[in-house]
Amino acid sequence: MKIVHLRTNHMKNPLGYDLGKPVVSWKVEETEGKFTQNAVVQAAADPDFQNIVYEISGKNLDSYGTVLDIPTEPSVRYYWKVKVTTDKNEEAVSSTAWFETPKNPHEWKGIWISPDFHKNSKEDGIVFHEFKISKTVKKARLSISGLGLYEVYIDGKKVGDEYLTPNFNDYFSWIQFQTYEAEEYLNPGTHKIEIWLGSGWYKGKHLTFNEGNPDCHYGDTSGAIAELKVSYEDGTEELFQTDFTWKGCRSCIRANSLYDGEIIDETFDQSEIFSVKELNIGTERLKARLSLPVRKKLIKKPKELILTPKGERVLDFGQNMAGWIVFYNRLDKGQTCKMTGGEILQQGNFYHENMRSAKTEFTYTSDGESKWIRPHFTYYGFRYIKLEGFPENINLEDFEAWVLYSDMEETGSIITGNEKVNHLISNILWSQRSNFIDVPTDCPQRDERLGWTGDTQVFCKTASFNMDTQEFYRKHMYDVWCEQKKNNGMVPMVVPDLFLTAASAAWGDIAVIVPWVQYQMYGDRSLLKKQFSGMKAWVEYIYKMGKEEGEIGLWKAGTHFGDWLSLDTLDGRATGGTDVHFIASAYYYYSVSLLVNAAEVLKLYKDSEKYSKLKQKIRTSFIKEYYTGSGRLAVDTQTAYILVLYLHLYPEGEEKNLILRLVDKLKENKNHLTTGFVGTPLLCPVLSQHGYGDLAYTLLLNEDFPGWLYAVNMGATTIWERWNSVRPDGTMHPDGMNSLNHYAYGSIQEWMYQYMAGIQEKKGVPAWKSFFLKPQPDQRIGKAEAVFDSPFGKIVSAWEYKENNIFFHFEIPFDTSAKILLPDGQEKTVTAGSYDYVTKKEALPAKEPGDRYLEDLLNDPEISVLLQQRIPAITKHKNDTYKGKTLRESMNEVFNRYTLLDLKKLEEEIKCLSLSEPIV
Ligand code: BGC
Repeated sequence: MKIVHLRTNHMKNPLGYDLGKPVVSWKVEETEGKFTQNAVVQAAADPDFQNIVYEISGKNLDSYGTVLDIPTEPSVRYYWKVKVTTDKNEEAVSSTAWFETPKNPHEWKGIWISPDFHKNSKEDGIVFHEFKISKTVKKARLSISGLGLYEVYIDGKKVGDEYLTPNFNDYFSWIQFQTYEAEEYLNPGTHKIEIWLGSGWYKGKHLTFNEGNPDCHYGDTSGAIAELKVSYEDGTEELFQTDFTWKGCRSCIRANSLYDGEIIDETFDQSEIFSVKELNIGTERLKARLSLPVRKKLIKKPKELILTPKGERVLDFGQNMAGWIVFYNRLDKGQTCKMTGGEILQQGNFYHENMRSAKTEFTYTSDGESKWIRPHFTYYGFRYIKLEGFPENINLEDFEAWVLYSDMEETGSIITGNEKVNHLISNILWSQRSNFIDVPTDCPQRDERLGWTGDTQVFCKTASFNMDTQEFYRKHMYDVWCEQKKNNGMVPMVVPDLFLTAASAAWGDIAVIVPWVQYQMYGDRSLLKKQFSGMKAWVEYIYKMGKEEGEIGLWKAGTHFGDWLSLDTLDGRATGGTDVHFIASAYYYYSVSLLVNAAEVLKLYKDSEKYSKLKQKIRTSFIKEYYTGSGRLAVDTQTAYILVLYLHLYPEGEEKNLILRLVDKLKENKNHLTTGFVGTPLLCPVLSQHGYGDLAYTLLLNEDFPGWLYAVNMGATTIWERWNSVRPDGTMHPDGMNSLNHYAYGSIQEWMYQYMAGIQEKKGVPAWKSFFLKPQPDQRIGKAEAVFDSPFGKIVSAWEYKENNIFFHFEIPFDTSAKILLPDGQEKTVTAGSYDYVTKKEALPAKEPGDRYLEDLLNDPEISVLLQQRIPAITKHKNDTYKGKTLRESMNEVFNRYTLLDLKKLEEEIKCLSLSEPIV
């Protein structure tokens, strides 16, 4: 028996984070036991546990999140361990984990400084200081922040392995500081600390494509604040902090911008020394970090060097991604080279137009030294790099791409028997990697890269299967809350808010949906508790908007993004064909429903009662407004049916008609989707929930436009923003808004985990403590294996078609139970362990959509009579189409041509087959 994966606030041994009340978690492996009989958590202020500060025990301690209810002191390292006894009386004690609290965020001796370049210079420079260490250092902590970005070096060595610090948030509300262990840099002697400054999100060229947005959104002067606290072996302490004794100088980073890139000139003379000036921004906003570190997570080597028809030299990394181009410098002193990022080639040539105004360039002037060179204060998305200024013969080994993103553990994977689907899954993961650089962004390449709330909301569950996103979203949801506080509960379109504009439905609902999904996935109640105010504030905001319009049950005001980029309008408008206020009202209902759930979990019964009433009110108003007297949905788009079915927002008894109508709508479109950002994520789940899993597979497997595999066939290595970002002839969609790295449609992977593999949560049970395994296999992909490292450990669900059988394999982690539901109707309730089953292929329900209609029709007494009369005649018909086919196949042929609700047409069809033969 082993206790593994010890985490504090879901991080391994975190240092310097704002942890609130720390939450510890662990997993148990390699045990005969099935459940925890008892667990004891001990926390101490020393590694030998002499000085225990907290102890908690019990059978029901949550291994996925036990709160250490202690008031922690600043700058202290706490240690903790857990002992677990199982129901089989096995026992194990974990290794020791730790967390270290940050310095007191309210007490700063250091001041914000910036090089005093005079003349209102906006240049980002360097601030530095020389200091002496005279005794042996026992411990040293560097607490530091910068505006916009900083990198800190001691004696030329970079401190820490993270980049783009102090990360991106609403600097008007809070500024994060990081804490680094620094003893390894500080032998007795003289040392130099240097803080390099960059613009980042804080200042410089305006962020967003909106030309009217001001430059320097948060401030116009970069600066830093730092305190280096050194504790000596002899028990004394010394503090070195930013003050007027520091100096400043210019930097060889001559220009830097997130969108445009970086210009480094190593021949630049940095020797002029400047004094520093104080920035009057105070220290009140400084708060210990929440952001996960952005790290170099992967390195990619170029696949080939292409000489384009235009004569450009372009490196192809074979993979679209986000981060940096890094190279080994062999240029002579004074020579300049330039590397520009692009996502695709057009007619074989380098293409940059879809980056819009973002230059995405890295320019370097050599000092003649051979060494690896990287950028510092930029990042961008690219697959191709255009090279300029390099000598004729270059070595591919001299180049690499650093893939940067927030350091999250990967927790999920799916492999199927279909190579194209596997490629799609890889594309989704790459779009996640590219857009999780501290803020969940829409895209990583053009002049945007913003925290678009709608994109985050729709992808959040997929993301949380793929990676442990808890701390990533916790920080982001804190940002959302900061914006809400300033705006009476309103959630701006992007967070951090750079547009200063209104909310949109399905975008602003991030405030409710993300916390709820996180709670379901990870079970951390303390987080849900923190986020409840934001959830409530968003619902109250919509309520107020409605009230002003004289309607509290619907959201009929405001501009919304609708079913963004759907394909169901004639004029091609981006908001799509579904009435935007219909979507807004449905999402209002959705958010209020989740708010009620959250209130119940948190035992806030007054709230749950209040919002249950509101939920009922919305339901009544919605049904009155959007259904005709006979129960027909008045908004006739795929997305409209998907939404009401997903949310159970229909008059009693209408469910069947609605799903048939959706299936019809798909059939009318040759079983292809027309949905955008709102409809797409819910489309396949709705089909599978209503017995049309086979149709969900058909949509997944469509290889032509519009469908997921179309992009795969067109060579995509990430998910595109549009269904046709690249058109069949290989040319880019002409609209300026066309990214090849947008994760929203990647939300199909949630369906793969939950329906293809059938890993489904049980209502009301968070963190996968007990769950369903309800795979829906399909012979067209042959096999699928999903692995999800849940808060309790690995859940595996796999199936494979072999000859006439389907083999199933499941693994269930310690301390959980699962109900397995096989497609042939078998049911088993199981606990920790691994399980294998075989079913006969024939035992499975119908596969083709037509089969399903047939089933439905046969179950309808009236229609069934009609069919009973006709079927034998059809099968006897000499027409080749039906010859030699089974009854079921024949009927499929007929039914697939018509909409199911149109029985008259069906009858005509049967008649015009000239079925005059007598009915047998
Ligand atoms: C972004 C989207 C976003 C949308 C909202 C676009 O520019 O890239 O992903 O959700 O605007 O309308």
